[in-house]
Amino acid sequence: MKAVTVLSAHTAKTMWKHKNALKVLCIEGFSNENGNTKALLDEFLREYKNAEIIKYNTYKESPKPCYGCGFCKENEKCVYSDLQNFFILFETADIIIVASPIYNLSFPAPLKALIDRLQPYYESYYKYGKIQKIKKRREAYFLAAAGCDGEKAFNIMRRQLKNAFSITNIEYKGDKLLANTDNIKESTKGENDG
Ligand SMILES: Cc1cc2nc3c(=O)[nH]c(=O)nc-3n(C[C@H](O)[C@H](O)[C@H](O)COP(=O)(O)O)c2cc1C
Repeated sequence: MKAVTVLSAHTAKTMWKHKNALKVLCIEGFSNENGNTKALLDEFLREYKNAEIIKYNTYKESPKPCYGCGFCKENEKCVYSDLQNFFILFETADIIIVASPIYNLSFPAPLKALIDRLQPYYESYYKYGKIQKIKKRREAYFLAAAGCDGEKAFNIMRRQLKNAFSITNIEYKGDKLLANTDNIKESTKGENDG
């Protein structure tokens, strides 16, 4: 049994349907459906033939950015409700796969917005003396595509994810970088070092 569900933009009510299947949540940071990141993710997902897979595409869902309003400091939840369903999926998945292109040494803006929106978990973690709000321990993998060498950016992004995972009860299990996708000739390379 393989079930792939793609959440529809803004109306995400999708929930896990197969009780006993491994639950894989793909957090997609790419917009290009024929691009390298998608190809990398597809290849990685071949390992999960019998899993239930839900894909959350950050470009389609367009999560609001964090406004730093401080609401979650007092209330341990976000003042905005657009991610309510996402958070349930995020808390109940078994495996989380983050698949992203590298943009300016980091994540594209919609995925960065989603990562920033994990702030309520951060606030709760420190308020209660480093107790995880999410009780279920999950595992995560990080996949990235880079136009250039990508190694520096990949390290920065890995650090960002590890920080976020540390306050959301996730074990960072591994990653894969697909580099030099833009096939830029050495002689025409500019100042971009990432
Ligand atoms: C706005 C933008 C910024 C980028 N910044 C970087 C960068 O800092 N380092 C890098 O190696 N590639 C960079 N790239 C190249 C992409 O990472 C590369 O083309 C990647 O394969 C895109 O993913 P996709 O094929 O899934 O669309 C950038 C591309 C864009 C559009």
